[in-house]
Amino acid sequence: MVTGPTPSTGRVAGKRVLITGAARGLGRSHAVRLAEEGADLILVDICRSLPEIEYELATEDDLAETVRLVTELGRRCVSRVADIRDEVALRSAVNAGVDELGGLDGAVANAGVLTVAPWDRTTSEHWRTVVDVNLIGTWNTCAAAIPHLLAQGGGSLVNISSAGAMKGFPLQIPYTAAKHGVVGLTIGLANELAAQSIRVNSVHPTGAFTGMIPPSFGTTLAEERPDLIPMFVNAMPTPFIDAVDVSNAVLFLISDESRFVTGLQFKVDAGVSIN
Ligand SMILES: NC(=O)c1ccc[n+]([C@@H]2O[C@H](COP(=O)([O-])OP(=O)(O)OC[C@H]3O[C@@H](n4cnc5c(N)ncnc54)[C@H](O)[C@@H]3O)[C@@H](O)[C@H]2O)c1
Repeated sequence: MVTGPTPSTGRVAGKRVLITGAARGLGRSHAVRLAEEGADLILVDICRSLPEIEYELATEDDLAETVRLVTELGRRCVSRVADIRDEVALRSAVNAGVDELGGLDGAVANAGVLTVAPWDRTTSEHWRTVVDVNLIGTWNTCAAAIPHLLAQGGGSLVNISSAGAMKGFPLQIPYTAAKHGVVGLTIGLANELAAQSIRVNSVHPTGAFTGMIPPSFGTTLAEERPDLIPMFVNAMPTPFIDAVDVSNAVLFLISDESRFVTGLQFKVDAGVSIN
């Protein structure tokens, strides 16, 4: 579905950008912020829950709401339901979106999941699901976008990691490890693709209120390991950041304002990772 008129002004005017995990949370916020600044979007989300993840993931209604918000801003928007673990399905969704929009200038690998458990209750299913979505899914997103960026003569890949990759969050080891993996993927690709003018950067948020709230997190931390609570406390006087704080970093990295920024780990973490 392509909707909306096309005249475009703004910091990313006329850029065509893929966003995964776009149905809600940070992904929806990136979509709205980029659309406000003139981008047209390909929005992908799994739109179903996974048995290994204790909180619900987004729905097709959530994705439709993101589409509504983007088109209300007058931008073109293509949405597809796809699991980023399925590289064939993802590539097909991205290719179809690029056909409709006429090209691709950037991608935001944002979709992710979180499991919570102390080390002795962390299972191989936790590991496989989290690494599959957060690391291999991020790779699949980059790989689906790169041929189109090469065809454009360059572009910008933004991979959403976490402050956990800057300091080593406990009680979520598969997540922390996968988000560290995203850094390796990002800087390796940044080196490999710099000569083709493709920039690759990661963004590292601290906690923001979204649907990513495993109910067991608070109880595990408070009841089993209260000594670890300070690890999650921001240095600046705010318990949480807003989704748009992360989206403003994404906007900068997608825009030409960052045209010579690559291989950056862009922290938006209220200082949680300073020490
Ligand atoms: N919210 C935070 O505090 C926080 C902090 C640091 C990093 N992050 C990262 O930000 C990103 C967005 O998280 P959020 O907070 O908006 O969470 P969220 O759960 O609200 O949104 C994640 C979205 O990704 C989708 N998704 C999950 N698995 C998918 C898959 N296999 N294929 C396609 N889509 C899939 C979900 O349906 C959902 O719409 C994640 O990578 C997360 O790890 C979030």
